[in-house]
Amino acid sequence: MPRHKCEAVQGLSIAVLVALVAASISPAYSQKEQASFNIGGGGGGGVAKKPSPGGGAGAAAGAGSSFDQFLAQNVEHFAVTEQIYASKAKGGAGGKTLDADLSAAEASPVRYVVSPDGKGKFRTITDAIKAVPEKNRQRVILDIRPGTYKEKLLVPSMKPFITFAGNPKNPPIITWNDRAGTRGKNGAPIGTMASASVAVEADYFMAYGIVFKNDAPLALPGQEGGQAVALRVFGTKAAFYNCTIDGGQDTLYDHHGLHYFKDCVIRGSVDFIFGFGRSLYTECTIMSVTKETAILTAQQRTKAISDAIESGFSFVRCKIMGMGQIYLGRAWGDSSRVVYSFTEMSKEVVPVGWDGWKVEKPATTGVFYGEYKCSGPGAMSTQRIGWARVLTDQQAKAFTGSQFVYGNSWILPPPKI
Ligand SMILES: *[C@@H]1O[C@H](CO)[C@@H](O)[C@H](O)[C@H]1NC(C)=O
Repeated sequence: MPRHKCEAVQGLSIAVLVALVAASISPAYSQKEQASFNIGGGGGGGVAKKPSPGGGAGAAAGAGSSFDQFLAQNVEHFAVTEQIYASKAKGGAGGKTLDADLSAAEASPVRYVVSPDGKGKFRTITDAIKAVPEKNRQRVILDIRPGTYKEKLLVPSMKPFITFAGNPKNPPIITWNDRAGTRGKNGAPIGTMASASVAVEADYFMAYGIVFKNDAPLALPGQEGGQAVALRVFGTKAAFYNCTIDGGQDTLYDHHGLHYFKDCVIRGSVDFIFGFGRSLYTECTIMSVTKETAILTAQQRTKAISDAIESGFSFVRCKIMGMGQIYLGRAWGDSSRVVYSFTEMSKEVVPVGWDGWKVEKPATTGVFYGEYKCSGPGAMSTQRIGWARVLTDQQAKAFTGSQFVYGNSWILPPPKI
C-alpha cells in the first residue's frame, strides 16, 4: 500500500510547515462547528443586516466610513498587491508571457501509458510517478487508461511538469479512503492534510479527465475526524480540466498557489473547497452531497500566514446545486476572499449566503465576499448578510478573468488524448 508519508514529511519546507500548523487547526474547527452550525444565524449575525452608519468598516477604515468605502479600499489593495504578486510570479515578466521553464518543458513532452491490464508501461500511477526523475524539466504526460486505481498518491515537489491525462468520456478513478481521524503508524490521527487521496506538491501539474475521489463514508454531523480530502493542491500553476473531485467533508484542499479549474465537477458537504489557494474555477459544477448544511468554501486568506493574503477563490460561470442548505462560504481566515460571478445558484443556496464563522466582525477584518451577475433561485442577493456585497463592474473585473491567477504565464490547453 503506497503511503508516502515519509516522503511527504521529508519534503516539508517552512511554508508547508506553516500550512501544516494552520491545517491542523482545521479539523477541530470543522468538527465542532458542524455540530453547532446554526442555520440562518452564523457568526456574522443572522439575517441580512445592513451596515449601520459608523459601524461596518468603521474600525478598520476610520470612524464613520461606509462599507462601500471599505470595498473601494479593498479594490485598491487588490491593485497594489496585484503588481507585487505579478512581479513575484515565476518567469519574471510580471506574468505577461509564458514562463521560460514551462515553454522549455513543453517543447519535448514524454508520454507513458498507465494501464491496470499491463498493456502500458506501468500498471500503477505510483510506479509511473516514481519513474519521473527528480528536478524533471520535461512535460511528462501519464496517459492513464480507464479503470479504478486504488492508490494514495503524492506528486512530490521535486517532480514538476507532470500531467495526468484520462479520457473524460470514461475517466480513470483514483480513490483512497483516509480521513483526518485515520490512525497513522504512530497511532495518532493523521489529520486533514494527510487524508488526501492525491496530494500535488509539484508546480505545473495538470490533470485532464480524471476522477479524484475519497470514498470514506460521509461524516455524520459533529463526528470527529471526518474530514476526507480527495485532492490537495499545494504546488503552484496547476490546471484541472474535465475532472471530478469527489468526496464529503473537505473534498478539495485548494491549499496554496495559483490554480485553474475548468469544466470540473466538485462534490462535497462541509467546507468542501478550502485552503489559501488563489484559484479560478470556471464552468464548474459544484454539488452538495449532504441533506444537512453544506458549506461550499472555507477560504483561508489571512494576515497570519505569509502569502495567504494574496489568495482567494473566484468562481465564474459555474453551477451550484445539490441537496440540503448550501452556504456559499464561511470565513476560515480573517480576510477570507471568495467571489462568484455569472454563476447559477439553485434554491438550496441559503438567502443569507455567507457565514463569518470565527470572525466576529467580518466587515472590519478584511473578509471579502462578493457576487456579480449570478442567476437562479439561490441568487437572492437582496437577502444576503450585510457585509457581503454585489460587486460593481469595476470591482468584479479583477476576479472574472484568468488574470486573477496570472494565467498568461502558465495556463495551457489540456493535452490531446
Ligand atoms: C469537458 O467538459 C465540458 C463541459 O462539461 C464538455 O463540454 C466537453 O465536451 C468535455 N470534454 C470532453 C473531451 O469530453
